[in-house]
Amino acid sequence: MQAEREFEVVLFGATGFTGRLVAEYLALAGGALRWALAGRDLAKLERVRAGLPSAARGVPLLVADASAPAELAARAHVVATTVGPFARYGLPLVEACASAGTHYCDLTGEVHFIRRSIDVAHERARATGARIVHACGFDSVPSELGVLLLSQESRRLGLGGLREVKMVVTQLRGGASGGTLASILGVAEAAAGSAEIRRLLLDPYALSPERGAEPHTERGDQLGVRYEPALRCWTGPFVMAAVNTRVVRRSNALLSYAYGRELSYAESMSLGAGPRGLTRALGLSLGLGAGLLAAGLGPTRRLLARRLPHPGEGPSRERQAKGGFELEFFATTERGPTLRARVGGDGDPGYSATAKMLGESALALARDPLEAGGGVLTPAVALGTHLLERLRAAGLRFELR
Ligand SMILES: NC(=O)c1ccc[n+]([C@@H]2O[C@H](COP(=O)([O-])OP(=O)(O)OC[C@H]3O[C@@H](n4cnc5c(N)ncnc54)[C@H](OP(=O)(O)O)[C@@H]3O)[C@@H](O)[C@H]2O)c1
Repeated sequence: MQAEREFEVVLFGATGFTGRLVAEYLALAGGALRWALAGRDLAKLERVRAGLPSAARGVPLLVADASAPAELAARAHVVATTVGPFARYGLPLVEACASAGTHYCDLTGEVHFIRRSIDVAHERARATGARIVHACGFDSVPSELGVLLLSQESRRLGLGGLREVKMVVTQLRGGASGGTLASILGVAEAAAGSAEIRRLLLDPYALSPERGAEPHTERGDQLGVRYEPALRCWTGPFVMAAVNTRVVRRSNALLSYAYGRELSYAESMSLGAGPRGLTRALGLSLGLGAGLLAAGLGPTRRLLARRLPHPGEGPSRERQAKGGFELEFFATTERGPTLRARVGGDGDPGYSATAKMLGESALALARDPLEAGGGVLTPAVALGTHLLERLRAAGLRFELR
């Protein structure tokens, strides 16, 4: 594993919309962290540094392009990156970190990129001890840690593993940045151009370490409207389920199915009770279908790319401050009794809350006595309760009910 490195954490993409928020978070939460800001444009990095709290004004700046990241990986104990779309820019850094035994965390929600990373870097990272951790933002940290919490509670109570977990988003207030929209449109473009990627994205076990060993109990993501008796509300599809459920299933498989050999995991979004809730759920379902269609067709995708926020842009500070999220988890255990948990946070889930999630993931990789060995891992497997406790201390809520 690593000898002493110059930096505990290098934040790559520090000039981007989310990168700037993570830089601000690390400047305040990092304590006496040895860290550096990295990006491709020195003048932009200088402007970001000048806007940080005074204690961080001396933080070193490293210039690197995403296509040549070997030096960043060699100088850092951990690289945290927000350079996306990850399918376009991300793989060289993953490979460099896996080769150099450098821990890595990112914000990707691009399933085909994570699959590629597993295929090219998992064995190398296992050999060097590098923990490569994708999806350390709103997708998929709350889902990951919610299921982990329930599974630990189920074992603690002697109820065995989990048979079924349903996560329902009951509150979601937040915006979208240009980088996130570019990443979503990038996934749509990749899917439109490749039957193999389309098949992968529809596969509930797309991130499985060993596809043939999976129990094949999953039915796929919710696309239409359903009634949720536990909350007495109508639900529609949750757009991030296509990422989160795959990451949770990979965690379960990497943990030798410690959550439950036959676990079925699904996510949806609550749209309220009564006829109004039903109408809203139908609207969401149809709207999402139309959005996917528009993103999948070249001309409408190009139109969307022109009209929507551009890379570097995102929700205002005021809008982020008004954001928040609440997720309800309902579990059935192998022995029968049910368990409930709630995960929530204040601030825009994709930005202020995500900056905490990625910042604390990097700090956990740098400083905590983690149990997992190297490999292309998930937040629950690599960081588990260390990250959960860090995020609790940072103000996120993880509660058993
Ligand atoms: N999981 C989540 O919840 C979550 C939340 C937020 C964001 N994200 C993801 O995070 C990513 C970033 O989003 P964002 O809104 O922050 O995007 P953004 O504002 O466009 O930032 C992208 C960053 O990447 C840098 N970059 C682009 N090409 C590069 C290259 N060739 N070499 C080095 N750096 C390069 C940009 O540098 P310049 O400043 O020089 O252009 C910028 O720093 C997206 O993939 C998004 O989907 C995920």
